[in-house]
Amino acid sequence: MADTTPRATSNRSTTPGSATFKDFIGSQWAEHDRPLPAQREQAPFAAARRTRVSELHPGRTVVVPAGTAKVRSNDCDYPFRPHSTFAHLTGWGTDTVVGSVLVMTPTADGHDATVYLRATAGRDSEEFYANPEIGEFWVGPRPSLQEVSADLGVATADLAELPAVLDALDDTALLVRDADAELTRSLDERLGSPVGGAGETDGVPATADVLSRDLSELRLVKDAYEVNELRKAVDATAHGFADVIADFDAVLAHPRGERIVEGTFNRRARADGNTVGYDTIAASGHHACILHWTRNDGAVQPGDLILIDAGVEVDSFYTADITRTLPVSGTFTPVQRMVYEAVLEAADAAFAIVKPGITFRQVHATAMEVIARKTAEWGFLPVSAEDSLQPDNQFHRRYMVHGTSHHLGLDVHDCAKARRELYIDGVVEAGMVFTIEPGLYFQQDDLTVPEEFRGIGVRIEDDVLVTADGAENLSVGIPRTPSDVEGWIAGSGASLNG
Ligand code: GLY
Ligand code: MN
Repeated sequence: MADTTPRATSNRSTTPGSATFKDFIGSQWAEHDRPLPAQREQAPFAAARRTRVSELHPGRTVVVPAGTAKVRSNDCDYPFRPHSTFAHLTGWGTDTVVGSVLVMTPTADGHDATVYLRATAGRDSEEFYANPEIGEFWVGPRPSLQEVSADLGVATADLAELPAVLDALDDTALLVRDADAELTRSLDERLGSPVGGAGETDGVPATADVLSRDLSELRLVKDAYEVNELRKAVDATAHGFADVIADFDAVLAHPRGERIVEGTFNRRARADGNTVGYDTIAASGHHACILHWTRNDGAVQPGDLILIDAGVEVDSFYTADITRTLPVSGTFTPVQRMVYEAVLEAADAAFAIVKPGITFRQVHATAMEVIARKTAEWGFLPVSAEDSLQPDNQFHRRYMVHGTSHHLGLDVHDCAKARRELYIDGVVEAGMVFTIEPGLYFQQDDLTVPEEFRGIGVRIEDDVLVTADGAENLSVGIPRTPSDVEGWIAGSGASLNG
C-alpha cells in the first residue's frame, strides 16, 4: 500500500512547520454540507460483474487493488490510472482515489464487497496543506467514504482498516498481483508463497495470477454500459481525426509535422475524454512502415501518406483504437491507392465473416488470404498465394508482421490475460468488441518490391462490435474508402458521421 509520508523536499522551500502557522492554517474554514451524490450509471453493471466473480470463486477472498501512482522521475508521478480490473469491478473512473482496494469477502451465499479508501483528512491535520501527493491543497479534495459508497453503490471503509483484513487472509485468497507491487510483496511474504495461485487444482502453477486470468476472460464480452462507453470513445476519436485533417496546412508547414498531428489529436482526447488510450502513432511517409512509430518527430511532406493510429480514452477508461492512412496532399497516387485498396479489401473480407460462432482466429486468416493474394498478384512472393498461406511458408507476412485483431475495452489490448483457447482460439460471441486492422508495409530498403512501393505503409483499423447475427463497425463513420477519404480531405463528399 502507498506510503503516506510526503516525499522529502528538504532542500527546497517547504510548508512552514511552526505551531503558530499550524494553528492559523488549521482554523477558520467553513463547514461543507454537500448532499450525497446519486449512484452512477455504471454501478449496477459493476455489481453484476462482481457477482460473476463471486460465482467463480465461492468461499475465497478476492482482493483487487487500484494501485498507486507510478513515479516518472524523482518526486513527479505519471497521472494516476487505477488498474483496469479495479475500474471494471467498481465502475470508478478518473476520480478514483489513489491506493484504494476492493475486497470481496465470502459469505454464506456469495461475497460482500467493500472498497477501502483513504478517509478524508480534516483541516486539523497537516495532510491537507503539507502533503504534495495526497493533500487537498495539492491534488484537490477527495470524496468521503459516505460519498463514494452512495456514488458506486458499494460499502466503503477507511483504508486504515485494511491491514487487519489482509493480515487475516489465508492462502486461498485471490489477488490481482500486478496492481500494487508493495501490497503483493507483503502478502506473499506473510503467506510464504505467491498469493493468488495457491489452492488451485486444475494444473495452474502456484505463481499464476488466477484472478487476473478470470477477470480478463470476464471482459471478453462487453455489457451494455461498456458498449456505450466504447461508442463515446469512437465518437470522440472521429472528432480527433477531423481536427487533424483540418490542421493539415499547419502539419505540412512545421518541420516536425507529425508532432502537430499528435498534439492536435491529443488535445481532442484531453478535451473530450480522459486522455489517449495509448501513445498516438503519427507516421508519415516511410515512418508508416514502423508499426508503433510514436517518436513522431518527422516532417510531413507533400505527397506523403500519413498513418495515424489513435484512440480517445473516455473518463471511464474505455478506449477506441482506430487507424486511418491519409494522403496529405488530398489524393492518392496510383500506387498508394493500389496498396490502400488491397488493405481495404482485406479489412472488408475479415469484417464480412464476423458473427457469433466463428473462431477469432478466422478473422485474421480471412484478412491474410487477401494479403497473400494481392502480394502474389503483384509478383512479390516466391510462391503462389496458396503456397504462401501454408503454415511453414507465410512469405506474405513479410509485409504484415502483426496480427489482424485484438480485443478492445478498458485496455487497448484488452483481455490480455485470457487463456489462448478463449482468445485466439476462442469462439466469437455477441457483445465482443475487437479491432480489424490489416496493413501492408513496404520498407524503404525492401528489395523484393519495386521501387515505387518502397516506403509505403498502409493500415486501416476499425473497431467492431459483434451483434446477435453479425457485426457492427463502430468506426464506419470515419471515412475509409479511398474516394471518401479524398472527399473528406477536400472538405466535401463524405461527412464525418455519414
Ligand atoms: N493501436 C496500436 C495497436 O493496436 O497495437
Ligand atoms: Mn489496434
